[in-house]
Amino acid sequence: MPSADGNDCPYDLYHPSIDSDPFPIYAWLRDHAPVHWSERDKHWILTRYDDVSQAAQDWETFSSTSGNLVDEIPGRAGATLGSTDPPRHDRLRALAQAAFMKKNIEHLEGPILQLADAALERIVAKGRFDFVAEYSSEITINILLKLMGLPAKDPQEIRRKVVLSISTDKSARGRNAEQIEAFGWLAKFLDTEVNERRKAPSDDLITRLAEAQIDGERLTDREIVMTSATFVMAGIESLSSFMNLFALNLHDHPEARRRIVANPALLLPAIEESLRFNTSAQRFKRTAAREWTRHGRTIKPGDTVLLAYGAANRDERKFPNAHVYDIDRKPTGHLGFGGGKHFCLGSQMARFVTDVAMRRFLSRVPEFRVATPKLDWISSSNFRSPVALPFEIG
Ligand code: HEM
Repeated sequence: MPSADGNDCPYDLYHPSIDSDPFPIYAWLRDHAPVHWSERDKHWILTRYDDVSQAAQDWETFSSTSGNLVDEIPGRAGATLGSTDPPRHDRLRALAQAAFMKKNIEHLEGPILQLADAALERIVAKGRFDFVAEYSSEITINILLKLMGLPAKDPQEIRRKVVLSISTDKSARGRNAEQIEAFGWLAKFLDTEVNERRKAPSDDLITRLAEAQIDGERLTDREIVMTSATFVMAGIESLSSFMNLFALNLHDHPEARRRIVANPALLLPAIEESLRFNTSAQRFKRTAAREWTRHGRTIKPGDTVLLAYGAANRDERKFPNAHVYDIDRKPTGHLGFGGGKHFCLGSQMARFVTDVAMRRFLSRVPEFRVATPKLDWISSSNFRSPVALPFEIG
């Protein structure tokens, strides 16, 4: 295994193995260096459940104001829910939450089923298909655009920009100009839409964000654009990536899959176990605001710290047989959606969309196999997903 930090430490955030299979590296870090300093990239990484969970709760020590994306996009820090601390974060979150109510999510069931049925018609006729392009992202992007009230002239163009925005360039050990430009394109697109909604309100999330009020306070136009950008990025990428990983878990565990096909009520517990076993949101960034000492290492104010949710979820100290995928586990307290003040605002929507879309999928495609010897993985410091998931039915 490569070593970026000297000695025998296998951790290198920009090595492709972090995307394809980070779990052996996480296990090494948890056992040998639970508070690990990467000298090359100048960041700490926390991997044990207790440490990551405490750090996620302790926003006064682990601040988000310098951004929560590991390779932050210029101009984003301080303007989104994920990159602010209380009290500003509380205000933004309350306003966004007011716009993002459960009843708005449940209205999506009909449209999800329509999209699923249309996709399944094509998939079943072909027998071989790409689950990412033809199912998960097809559903998540169209649902998200509908929820936000965004025009769907070219949904795949929006998806391409989102995927680029969350990608990193391994050779640059960070983002390149094209990736930063992609986020600029998204922000500009959303800015135009916010202006339109100001002139002509509609029944959609952008209008609700523009109209949401708490104690007479509203979001500014920039806050609406940046909050919408978070929804678009999370709703399209985190969600479709998670659905891809979930489908892969079901492929790899045929016994669990067959039990779910026979009893679809098992889907929700299986989704929860996949969020623990294999979350799409693997690592997020914080910046230390004060000193923090654990396991003989001291993090200093100003230091960059990565909270490895994906590693914490595989910690044997918290989850016995953590490397076993077990749909009967009930993994209470998993960090697949993060924790503390920044706990995922879209968690209910993510569970709901995955449940509805996968229930329909399994009813038409109960048996499938991966039709490639090797999967390619997206290159990202935060997220995890196969680029494509070629499946053959049967
Ligand atoms: C299974 C899919 C998803 C996963 C695994 C996921 C995961 C996460 C995680 C780990 C965080 C915490 C980030 C941090 O610690 O800095 C987060 C935050 C967030 N997520 Fe999700 N997410 C998913 C889907 C969604 C969806 C569908 C939406 C909305 C459309 C969404 C909206 C948000 C927002 C707005 C935040 C920021 C919350 C805050 O900082 O207060 N997520 N998500």
